[in-house]
Amino acid sequence: MHTEKIVILDFGGQYSQLIARRIRECGVYCEILPYDAEAAKLNTPDLKGIILSGGPDSVYADDAPQCSSTVFTCGIPVLGICYGMQLMAYSEGGAVHSAGKSEFSKALLTVDEPSSLLLKECSGNSIVWMNHTDSVTALPEGFSVLAHTENCPIAAMAHTGKKQYAVQFHPEVLHSVHGTQILKNFVRTICACTHEWNAEREADTLIEQIRTQVGSKRVLSALSGGVDSSVASVLVHKAVGEQLTCIFVDHGLLRKDEAEEVLKAYRETLGLHIIPVDASERFLRRLKGVTDPEQKRKIIGEEFIRVFEEEAKKIGGSDFLVQGTIYPDIIESGGSKKAAVIKSHHNVGGLPEKVDFKALIEPLRAFFKDEVRVLGESLGIPHRLVYRQPFPGPGLAVRILGEITEERLRLVRESDAILREEIARAGLAESIWQYFTVLPDVKTVGVMGDGRTYDNLIAIRAVTSSDAMTVEAAEIPYSVLQKIALRITNEVKGINRVVYDITPKPPATIEWE
Ligand code: XMP
Repeated sequence: MHTEKIVILDFGGQYSQLIARRIRECGVYCEILPYDAEAAKLNTPDLKGIILSGGPDSVYADDAPQCSSTVFTCGIPVLGICYGMQLMAYSEGGAVHSAGKSEFSKALLTVDEPSSLLLKECSGNSIVWMNHTDSVTALPEGFSVLAHTENCPIAAMAHTGKKQYAVQFHPEVLHSVHGTQILKNFVRTICACTHEWNAEREADTLIEQIRTQVGSKRVLSALSGGVDSSVASVLVHKAVGEQLTCIFVDHGLLRKDEAEEVLKAYRETLGLHIIPVDASERFLRRLKGVTDPEQKRKIIGEEFIRVFEEEAKKIGGSDFLVQGTIYPDIIESGGSKKAAVIKSHHNVGGLPEKVDFKALIEPLRAFFKDEVRVLGESLGIPHRLVYRQPFPGPGLAVRILGEITEERLRLVRESDAILREEIARAGLAESIWQYFTVLPDVKTVGVMGDGRTYDNLIAIRAVTSSDAMTVEAAEIPYSVLQKIALRITNEVKGINRVVYDITPKPPATIEWE
């Protein structure tokens, strides 16, 4: 799939994925490996450079993470970032000391060696992002200082002959003004990568690989309308056409018009062979009287597998199952040992464990979410579907607090449709990570016309985020919020009050359940 790659050894820094994103933005393919990846994994002909990420440890600690010694002897260019720099200095005979106090801030970098390949087009003074406690206090032999800041005399260093470079600051963070240029200098000039990698160009190769893997066998996919599973299915469809059958389970907990829209786009526009299954009655029956959120998730997950299995059996089974696994899923499920944050959410399913398939097809294993979107659009999936907001597997069930009934589904569905319409009208749809309405189990007193009402409260949840791990409440203009509240109370019978949830995550979560 690629002829050149950069490997990032992950020492547990919070920015490791960001480094990978930036390298790919430079048009060079890269992968994140655990910090202690064996030499054999590094010794591949396509490896052009190694980046040592930051991390929370101190190189002098007893259990300080170390990388294979080959990294510093194999002759491949190395760039150490933060902890990576300290490890390089320590391993090569320099000294590292704790400054006593941590520096988490912007700093002014002064370049001392403007002719260094790493700092090409970065001369003079510029802002960089610092995030460290320890720093290099004595250079290893043969190294020179490339740049300094007021608090950090050795902010960048290099041994040009050995092609070893390091920076104490974080070039991957956009606060570092010349950061992208520095990473580009490393991959393009120092590692001499010439190939232009991008997700879109990979499509033909991926399709060819799927065709070879599948041969004349049959493939099944669970299409939900979610971005990852849809792009994966469309890729497989381009490769093997009618050999792919998609099963679309409507659990009755989807948003207004969602099932129709997904079917129209993927069946009519893109030509996928889809078996729609309206299982809403069955799901609602099982959810009757259930109020506990985890219980709801469990029931929906189990029922989903059951419906899927039944449908798969009806068409005589299949040899392969398509999964929309993407690169962050691989990293988060242990691809990179030190990664500090593990996402606990699971998609509805867990299909591979329960359903008997010979093999999985996971064409998006190497891609980040935004690369999946670029790929999806290039395959002809409409923009609005490729950029749609994340939607939880259990659907509206986790947005209806308390029991799920047809009537309560109507309240949340209709109010959510109004919210979505107004957010789109205000041009905010792509700047807000997720936005939806929630139906708490709360009734309030109101007045309508001349009469008293005792009706439902609806909450609006709208958040900005880059990864769903931490979020801020979106700053929707007051006039837009007012219009939404007015429309919901006027148009959705049974709602007489609208509130806006302004809590960040943490301490709250995105969904209310
Ligand atoms: P929270 O609510 O934990 O959600 O801040 C983080 C992201 O995960 C989605 N979410 C789920 N997705 N099954 C899913 O597939 C679930 O049970 C589930 N619960 C939350 C949520 O919409 C947000 O994008």
